[in-house]
Amino acid sequence: MGRRLIVGTTIDRVDDKSLTENSAAANRTSLWGGRFAGGPSEALARLSVSVQFDWRLAPYDIAGSRAHARVLAGAGLLDPEELGRILAALDDLEAACASGTFRPTVDDEDVHTALERGLLERLGSLGGKLRAGRSRNDQVATDLRLYLRDHARGVAARLVELAEALVEQAGRHVDTAAPGMTHLQHAQPVTFGHWLLAHVQPLLRDLERLRDWDHRTAVSPLGAGALAGSGLPLDPGAVSKELGFRTSFANSMDAVADRDFVAEFLFVTAMIGVHLSRLGEEVVLWTSQEFGWVELDDAFATGSSIMPQKKNADIAELARGKSGRLVGGLVAVLTMLKGLPMTYDRDMQEDKEPAFDAVDTLELLLPALAGMISTMTVRVDRLVAAAPVGFSLATEVADWLVRKGVPFRDAHEITGKLVALCAARDCALDEVSDADLATVSEHLDPSVRDVLSVRSALAARITPGSTGPGPVADQLATAADQLTTWRNWTAESVVPR
Ligand code: ARG
Repeated sequence: MGRRLIVGTTIDRVDDKSLTENSAAANRTSLWGGRFAGGPSEALARLSVSVQFDWRLAPYDIAGSRAHARVLAGAGLLDPEELGRILAALDDLEAACASGTFRPTVDDEDVHTALERGLLERLGSLGGKLRAGRSRNDQVATDLRLYLRDHARGVAARLVELAEALVEQAGRHVDTAAPGMTHLQHAQPVTFGHWLLAHVQPLLRDLERLRDWDHRTAVSPLGAGALAGSGLPLDPGAVSKELGFRTSFANSMDAVADRDFVAEFLFVTAMIGVHLSRLGEEVVLWTSQEFGWVELDDAFATGSSIMPQKKNADIAELARGKSGRLVGGLVAVLTMLKGLPMTYDRDMQEDKEPAFDAVDTLELLLPALAGMISTMTVRVDRLVAAAPVGFSLATEVADWLVRKGVPFRDAHEITGKLVALCAARDCALDEVSDADLATVSEHLDPSVRDVLSVRSALAARITPGSTGPGPVADQLATAADQLTTWRNWTAESVVPR
């Protein structure tokens, strides 16, 4: 049975008190410095430090270290006793990181430096053996792939929950009529269940995107070293296998230069953000006085500090608003990567915050949206009353004429005239007299009224994927099945142990 490597603690600021507490400047661990006369300037140190945000990679870095230690032992570069001590120290360090007894200090440039310090504290000079054949360049690429693969499953699990909430609401409204819209104008009646399921399909595609992305991301960079591979007899395939990757890198230079997986992850999260913003916008509309289609549960709505009567859909608005930072993260990483020469460049340190922020944002937002959707009350009376408003049954008249052999072009024209007549008289399509029908067109007769009900319009839509109650029930069952399959995927663990 595998495990999920989700680290409990994150550190937001490098001047966080907890960071400085165990700072021991005298024992400063650096992964470089042999050729330097003095330490880094304060300004450089402050600029380049990344441990305040990359500390969350710690469990993945430790998993990589375990795999690397075994490979060094396999190559005869560690004896079995040394390997045993290193693995025990890594276990101990991992537990200390998880409990918070080991924390990074301000002097640790990044997560890799902090963990090397932790290992040196436990093993003395033996701890320094683990760096052979490895560079932070292949390490950080490996850690970030593992982190994102792991958290992609977490995001996917939350997406499944939102989709399930939508499916559950849809199940209550398989035959609730609603005014379907284009251009935000009443167009044709639909069932509200169909409408809710229209928000499920994008989420199913997002889940598929995450899984496709995961396949391409499951390539281990470890063994690429700084850029050239290793002169030591390492075994990238064995490391890849131990870390749950599909395969290892084909080109050591690409292995450390590639951040496609970050940009692509951020595309998927931006796309998710855009989908959530569209759902959010609809809930904002539905809950307005003007629509009044939906009432939010008190636990998922907010009030106003000055207007006692207010009930606002803040979750829906935050869904709309947070799409901005998700799209921004994608743009930031693509722009950072553009024009970078081979291979690793320090610019690439800028890949992490947008990626972490995308994960954090969705992990916050999705449960709130799921709760809002599953607890909202749909005002069926208001929806049903709105469904035929705005001559939304006009297409039924045109189709009725087509069934009688009238070319659609003429049918469209005739129906347009009927609509104009009704608009002038301020009446509904089925309220026109028999005589008036005949004046509009010789092809119209009173039996056209048979198709002038929302119910009959919906019932006529029986082809797969249409809005009629029958196909909606089929769609509902299929979506529920697919979500069960996705749920299983999200439970898979990335790093076997
Ligand atoms: N903190 C660095 C990053 O996130 C780790 C790699 C540093 N490599 C280097 N050669 N300076 O990209």
